[in-house]
Amino acid sequence: MIRSRLDPRGAEHLARRAAMLAKLAELDAEHAKAVAGGGEKYVERHRGRGKLPARERVELLVDPDSPFLELSTLAAWGSEFQVGAGMVTGIGVIEGVECLITANDPTVRGGASNPWTLRKSLRAAEIALANRLPYVNLVESGGADLPSQKEIFIPGGRIFRDLTRLSAAGVPTVALVFGNSTAGGAYVPGMSDYVVMVRDRAKVFLGGPPLVKMATGEESDDESLGGAEMHARTSGLADYLAEDEHDALRVGRAIVRSLNWRKQGVAPLPAREPAYPAEELLGIVPEDLKVPFDPREVIARVVDGSEFEEFKPLYGPSLVTGWARVHGYPVGVLANARGVLFSQESQKATQFIQLANQSRTPLLFLQNTTGYMVGKDYEQGGIIKHGAMMINAVSNSTVPHLTVVMGASYGAGNYGMCGRAYDPRFLFSWPSAKSAVMGPAQLAGVLSIVGRAAAQARGQVYDEEADAAMRAMVESQIEAESLPFFLSGRLYDDGVIDPRDTRTVLGMCLSAVNSAPVPPAAGFGVFRP
Ligand code: COA
Repeated sequence: MIRSRLDPRGAEHLARRAAMLAKLAELDAEHAKAVAGGGEKYVERHRGRGKLPARERVELLVDPDSPFLELSTLAAWGSEFQVGAGMVTGIGVIEGVECLITANDPTVRGGASNPWTLRKSLRAAEIALANRLPYVNLVESGGADLPSQKEIFIPGGRIFRDLTRLSAAGVPTVALVFGNSTAGGAYVPGMSDYVVMVRDRAKVFLGGPPLVKMATGEESDDESLGGAEMHARTSGLADYLAEDEHDALRVGRAIVRSLNWRKQGVAPLPAREPAYPAEELLGIVPEDLKVPFDPREVIARVVDGSEFEEFKPLYGPSLVTGWARVHGYPVGVLANARGVLFSQESQKATQFIQLANQSRTPLLFLQNTTGYMVGKDYEQGGIIKHGAMMINAVSNSTVPHLTVVMGASYGAGNYGMCGRAYDPRFLFSWPSAKSAVMGPAQLAGVLSIVGRAAAQARGQVYDEEADAAMRAMVESQIEAESLPFFLSGRLYDDGVIDPRDTRTVLGMCLSAVNSAPVPPAAGFGVFRP
């Protein structure tokens, strides 16, 4: 059992806690924007039409009092589009079955898909496929956001491709159509295994009456072109005609019940609470990420019984590795301790990842790294080879990976510690996270040195004043681009979470991961020892 050295009443802890709470208040405010959807006016209009908001639809679909792990909540943050990108996605339990659920928010520009909505829905389908989660779409959308069509029309075709690939892989797909689902959107029900449409509300056609009139001169109306009853009786696109929204949700639940779904992964052992309170996770990460912290303090508050069987503790101490359980599921943990990764740490990580693959144990990466060590001695000692070994192991490992960015995630450390490009099944950030190619001051400093050398080569005098201004500007730009809301807005993680929720979130992810069978054994690339 990890013995904590944290002093939860100490000044340092309290200061870190206060800083984290301030960041969490900001996070709440941003999440509230996603929940508000298109704002009061559009929500009132939507309700006035007798319709339920997207989140209420999800709430009524999932089992009463069951948790919903919302994903990509901050999608589109920092862009011209509404935070949340007009869509809700997440993992919820329907009739005891963990499903990937998506719901268009029709109060945000008619539920139209902008570039961030597209990324969010592609990510949802990716999660459903990787983890074998039945995929349930609650549809009511104005289709492509027309002014940004150039960003979405061509890549957007993947939405429909993914639906049929899920089905081909044995993952059922269900569309509950509450309203508009026209043009390309018509292929969401079109490609789904099960389709439910709400009477007098669903509208599913390739072209509405004005477009048909333009194309062929034919006079038509919404119901005859794409009404729910027409699709249930005549075209056969609707499998179930629901009387109203509640009825559609009831039918959706019945469909999932009839799947007779069985998870194919491993079952957990009984879970045990950690010996230390999750509340203390708020006061561990320093505001200044240059100050190291001991990740064992985090592990102690996340894993079952705070029990951690540390592997190779005396070797490569900047990376902590070891075995633990989270909610009864076994995991191998890799956690940065002092920021920098050296050759020893890389070798240790490589061996540990191979061991986890040998025992088919999922891996949990807890990131707080400034990257691989630079400098003459380290280059001569083979830091590139050793970092490459670690990246090879991470890339070709087939056990599920979960990543949590607690603090820094800079340089190739982001890669070796299973950043977004390395396809962890799930990746969450804490509000204290920061990620970039390097730190803002270092990046601005590098640009300055390069600029100075270039001026010298041209025989010019270097403009020191302009240099100082450039540094300040670049530093603030890189700082802003390193922050978790910005990165989450671009879908570089699956969400920013409260550190206190880490254990719950990981438990839900590990449960979801085990909906799929244990993946086949890894074949690693050629290691350069
Ligand atoms: N792209 C961009 N903006 C859209 C949009 C789209 N596809 N669909 C709707 N919007 C905007 C509207 O312009 C409106 O903006 P405003 O309130 O600032 O004026 C807002 O979203 C709400 O739309 P509104 O028409 O008032 O909502 P509604 O609930 O009465 O109707 C639709 C919703 C989706 C039925 C209707 O907006 C519509 O038919 N949109 C176009 C559908 C289409 O043909 N899409 C092309 C698919 S490829």
